[in-house]
Amino acid sequence: MRTARRRRAGLWPALRLVCFAALWSPTGAQLRYSIPEESKEGSVVGNLAKDLSVGAAELAERRLRIATESGEQFFGLDSRSGELTVREVIDRESLCEQSASCVLPLQLIIEDPLQFYRVEVDIQDINDNSPRFLSSSHVLEVAESTLTGARFRLEPALDPDVGSNALRTYSLSKNEHFALNLKNNKDGTKVPELVLERAFDREKQPVHRLVLTAIDGGNPPRSGSAEITVRILDANDNAPVFEKDLYEVKVMENCAPGTLILTVQAKDLDEGVNSQIEYSFGAHTSEAIQNFFAINSETGELLVSKDLDYESGKSFEFDIRAKDKGTPVMEGHCRVQVAVVDVNDNAPEISIASSPKPVREDATAGTMVALINVKDLDSGLNGNVTLTTSSNHPFKLKPTFSNHYALVTDGRLDREQFPEYNIELKASDSGSPPLFTSTIVKVNILDVNDNPPVFSKPEYSVYVKENCAPGTVVSSVSASDLDTGDNAKIVYSIIESKKQDVPVSSYFYINSENGSIFSMSSFDYEKMKVLKVQVQARDQGSPSLSSNATVHVFIVDQNDNAPAVIYPSAALGSVSHQRMPRSAKAGHLVTKVTAVDADSGHNAWISYRLAEATDASLFGVSFHTGEVRTKRSVSEQDDSSQRLLIEIRDNGEPAQSSTVTVEVLIEDGFHEPVSESRQKSPELNKRSGRITLYLIVALASVSSLCLMTFFILLVKCARGSRGGSSCCIRRSDSGYKTPNRNLQIQLNTDGPIKYVEVLGGDVMSQSQSFGSYLSPMSEFSDFTLVKPSSTTDFTDTLNVLDASLPDSTWTFECQQVSVC
Ligand SMILES: *[C@@H]1O[C@H](CO)[C@@H](O)[C@H](O)[C@H]1NC(C)=O
Ligand SMILES: *[C@@H]1O[C@H](CO)[C@@H](O)[C@H](O)[C@H]1NC(C)=O
Repeated sequence: MRTARRRRAGLWPALRLVCFAALWSPTGAQLRYSIPEESKEGSVVGNLAKDLSVGAAELAERRLRIATESGEQFFGLDSRSGELTVREVIDRESLCEQSASCVLPLQLIIEDPLQFYRVEVDIQDINDNSPRFLSSSHVLEVAESTLTGARFRLEPALDPDVGSNALRTYSLSKNEHFALNLKNNKDGTKVPELVLERAFDREKQPVHRLVLTAIDGGNPPRSGSAEITVRILDANDNAPVFEKDLYEVKVMENCAPGTLILTVQAKDLDEGVNSQIEYSFGAHTSEAIQNFFAINSETGELLVSKDLDYESGKSFEFDIRAKDKGTPVMEGHCRVQVAVVDVNDNAPEISIASSPKPVREDATAGTMVALINVKDLDSGLNGNVTLTTSSNHPFKLKPTFSNHYALVTDGRLDREQFPEYNIELKASDSGSPPLFTSTIVKVNILDVNDNPPVFSKPEYSVYVKENCAPGTVVSSVSASDLDTGDNAKIVYSIIESKKQDVPVSSYFYINSENGSIFSMSSFDYEKMKVLKVQVQARDQGSPSLSSNATVHVFIVDQNDNAPAVIYPSAALGSVSHQRMPRSAKAGHLVTKVTAVDADSGHNAWISYRLAEATDASLFGVSFHTGEVRTKRSVSEQDDSSQRLLIEIRDNGEPAQSSTVTVEVLIEDGFHEPVSESRQKSPELNKRSGRITLYLIVALASVSSLCLMTFFILLVKCARGSRGGSSCCIRRSDSGYKTPNRNLQIQLNTDGPIKYVEVLGGDVMSQSQSFGSYLSPMSEFSDFTLVKPSSTTDFTDTLNVLDASLPDSTWTFECQQVSVC
């Protein structure tokens, strides 16, 4: 300001005298001057001397001076020239403020004669002040929703200058929303007002900055400006808007409750509470969905709150609402689509549509046993089920239509081997990893009568003592049948045949249920030695099956016959009479006692013994032959009549015996009837020779057979290339039955051949033992046992022998090759 003053002072180099018509009076004369404010020190306001018509010379004398008055300090008086000058720069505004005129009064005093003068100095305004706002910035808060036409009063600017230098007008910086209006107050001042011409959008521009300029009327005009900040106060005029209209999310069905699956986000362009968003489900969201999902109202996080199950819900669709907290509340929506992704969490299921029927064991391949369905609640590959079964059973799966299978037979069934099957079925889906289920189907096989009863042995041999009581259990046969039920229920019976014109069924009875065979009569070994009974076992199947077995019943001899004396004949009484010469030497054959025993074997082995004698020293009886011979020569002293009691015993247990009494008459002139005995002896020798020949033939046959067999075996051995000192070979000749015995022929039956023994092996190499106990009276029935077989073949003979021997097996075993 001060610099401005100086400059202006320069503009006024000469004192300008505003001269009124000055009224002069010695007492009340008044002088008036005008100077612009800010005049420089020393500037001349007026020449008082001249204006008061006081000569310059007089001035000093009369002592013109300024009396104290308010303007005194500003002015000075040059007492010589009488000029009133500016002593201090005057600022009109500080002196007179806003008043329109600013006059500084001065009193002038002139002494001798004393005179008063009043001088007024009018301080004239210059435009030295710019309009000024009280605050250079001003903040205006305006609601966003303010309607156009609204006015906002602004603080006016101040300009201390007056008159034309005073504030004249305002201007507003260029903007879109406001216009400036100047409101005239009654006192003539102008108040600037902002007039809203265009509505706000806070969201577009929340703050507007304006510059209001006040301009005064000086020349040149001066201005001052203030910044006006218009803050738009938010109105809740924006709804929250989601980032997406549609959120699509895929969720694995096995995700755990609490899993975050989606975060939705909405934005609200407003601010403050108007932009604070709360998320929630849309108004019409079903309760089911609200059970499955939960939304965090603040963050917009969508969580799974319950186990999902693809099989019960494949997708969910619902709205999420975002609300702001403004007034009124505004809201926005978005749509959420949750697709549940199938997880292979369901194992396949196997259901047996028709429970397995029992199958007949003779069912043809392809017979249907059961219908099986499979299913899997999963979808796609996870639900694609295949059913398989193991191959270790004669069944297979035949697919019928989708997910249906028929279990059919695939091969031969045999109930006897496998009465039931536990078939494992395994279903697997194609998920990864796949899930499995298995189940076991039990199939029962029904019996078919395909097995005949089988006897425990094809042939039975039983030994029955003769004379046993009828009704005793002779034997027991048993058969078994692999089938079950009636098919295995066995009924035993005897197949009718005849033995000596008597039906077998009259000898035996069989218990049809347990196969026990009972005798129905007693047997006499002397009449019947062997019986062949055919038994049959028949099952109760339909048709029934049967099989046969043979029971060989051997009657076992009992010692029930005492030896019978044949010679000497006792027909004439109990005493036999013999004669002998007195000249007989020692060893003279007196007679020969011959007896027979109807029994056989040991029971028929007869021995002779001298039981009593008149002179025991004279006679002896041969133990085996029954020959009665003299032990010494007969002397003259010996009685001519000698009595001998000879006991004949068999070898049975207990033994049976009989006796014969022989009276020997010793005659002096008696001669033996030699011719008789000589006539007989060739024939006897001939017969003995014949028997010997038979036996030799038999032995030769056996030997050659043995040799042949060994030869064959030897060849076989050699083929088998087996070295070794020992070669034990079982006889494989089809003419024989089961092997395992040393070659042994034992004829140990009744008849004249009491004992025949052919031993093989080591025994045979040393001795071929056979013995016979012959009865002279029955020499022609030597081979009675062999004869009934009516065959000459030795093999057959052996067979017959074999069948009649207790151990009905023949063995042929050579221990040393050199033997044969
Ligand atoms: C068979 O039945 C008969 C009569 O019930 C009985 O006497 C016999 O001992 C039975 N045999 C067997 C081997 O059980
Ligand atoms: C059993 O014997 C009977 C009578 O001899 C005969 O008809 C039947 O065929 C025989 N059965 C068998 C299986 O040999």
